[in-house]
This record gives sequence, C-alpha cells and structure tokens, in this order.
Amino acid sequence: MSLKLNNKVAVVTGGNSGIGLGVAKLFAAEGAKVTITGRNESTIKTAVKAIGHDALGLVSNVADVESISPVFERVNDTFGKIDILVVNAGIVMMAPLEQFTEAMFDQVTDINYKGVFFTVQKALPYLNDGASIVVTSSTVADKGLAGAAAYIATKAAERALVRVFAAELAPRKIRVNALSPGSIATPIFEKAGYSKEHADGMADFFANSVALKRGGTVDEMAKGFLFLASEDSSYMTGGDLVLDGGWRDL
Ligand SMILES: NC(=O)c1ccc[n+]([C@@H]2O[C@H](COP(=O)([O-])OP(=O)(O)OC[C@H]3O[C@@H](n4cnc5c(N)ncnc54)[C@H](OP(=O)(O)O)[C@@H]3O)[C@@H](O)[C@H]2O)c1
Repeated sequence: MSLKLNNKVAVVTGGNSGIGLGVAKLFAAEGAKVTITGRNESTIKTAVKAIGHDALGLVSNVADVESISPVFERVNDTFGKIDILVVNAGIVMMAPLEQFTEAMFDQVTDINYKGVFFTVQKALPYLNDGASIVVTSSTVADKGLAGAAAYIATKAAERALVRVFAAELAPRKIRVNALSPGSIATPIFEKAGYSKEHADGMADFFANSVALKRGGTVDEMAKGFLFLASEDSSYMTGGDLVLDGGWRDL
C-alpha cells in the first residue's frame, strides 16, 4: 500500500495535544518526517514517543516571535526543507464581554492571530515550492456564540490570513487552506481553566447544536488534515474544509 506522505517533511505546531497530536500521528504513519512544537516540554516528550517514526519535538511559544524561526532552522538541519506546515497551536478563552480583560484579549490574540501570521512568515525561507500549509480555524468563525467574541474574531482572522497567504504564495505553488473543526473532544477547555464538569457541559451543548447530534473526533479531523496536506487536494487553495457535523450551515 502506498503511503500518502512518503518522506515529506511536516511540522505541526501544537502537536503535543488534542487535534495536533492526532494529525502528527497520522502524518507519521503515512510516511512523513514529523516535527511537533508546543510549550510544555513534558507533554512534548510523551507525544514524541506516541508518534514514533523518529519524530522530533521542540519547545516553542508562538506568541514569542523570536522563538519561531529556530524551530524551522532545526527542522531544516535535521530533515531538510518543509513540505507540510500545520499551523494549529491555539487556545480558547471565553467570558462575557463585560468580564473580558485586556490581558485575556492579548493572550488569545497573540497566540491565535499574531502567532499564526508570524509562524507562516518565518517558515517561508524553509518551505519547498509546492508545499502545503494548513491552518486550524474553527466553524465558530462564522457564528455568533455568546461569550466567545475575541476567540471567534481570531478564528475569523485566521481564515482571512489564509485567503491572502494563498494569493501571495501561489507563484511558488504553495497551497494554503484552513480546516474548520466543530466541537472536538480535546483538553482545550480544561487548559483554559474550566472544570471537567463545565467543559463536559459545553461539549454536550455543542453536540446538541449540530445536525449529527455529536461532537467530532480527533481522528476525523486528522483525516481532513491529511487530505489538505497531500496531493489529494492539489486543486484547493485559499479554501476552508469544514468538518463540523452540520453546525455552521444547517
Ligand atoms: N477542540 C475543539 O473543539 C476545537 C474546535 C475548533 C478549533 N479548534 C482549534 O484547534 C486547535 C487545536 O486545539 P485542540 O482542541 O487540539 O486543543 P489542545 O489539545 O489544547 O491543543 C492546543 C495545542 O496548542 C499548543 N499551544 C497553545 N498555545 C501555544 C503557544 N503559545 N505556543 C505554542 N503552542 C501552543 C498546545 O501546546 P501546550 O499544551 O504545550 O501549550 C497544544 O499542543 C486550536 O487552534 C483550536 O482553536 C479546536
């Protein structure tokens, strides 16, 4: 059986947890040489073991622009130029408008918006022509979900960036697409400080809001990323693959 990403060099930001970890595992199983990044050294080490296939794990905070380029330099030294960049690192931050502080606004914006912009910019010298960039946006980018204004704005910003980056990078045959998940079971809400009960309650609420009446899985998302990273999506750029169980449009 032929592998879809044989010998491709792939970088997944936020690859030590949740969706990014699922993507890294599938890409490695499909033959890619995978590097993951994140902030937590200990979960990076555990994730690298789980991914196997000689994956590389690097600590890098995307909100600190100075710490982005060293990742791509190291990947280039270890594996060569990059064929697939998954710009996935992100956080959620929710609170009613009147309670949302400037510090919360800066944190979510620095990671989900500024971090995405500079991750792609700093990768440019290390990307092969014909590379594929996939940005993890969210189906809620198009929804008015109470309490999530700043987060949703960052996810809409990501889709705006994807369209412009796709136009700018088309001369190098670099494709840039978004993947917009619906509600997926990952540790994202617990990391944002919600109790397990609260996080589960939100997941139930989201599941009941979608046509298929369930949340999605990391594996279902990973298959979408594989499509966008591989030649299977060779005629797609500037687009958005919505994997949300029928939430946005139904
Ligand atoms: N789960 C959902 O329902 C859902 C729905 C739509 C979109 N998304 C998007 O999917 C992406 C992945 O989220 P997830 O659900 O898989 O959550 P997750 O399990 O919490 O994963 C988030 C990842 O991002 C990394 N990260 C966060 N801040 C970072 C920073 N400043 N620098 C570098 N890495 C950082 C985390 O690493 P550390 O743990 O080391 O910080 C972690 O690996 C996010 O962009 C999120 O907005 C998720």
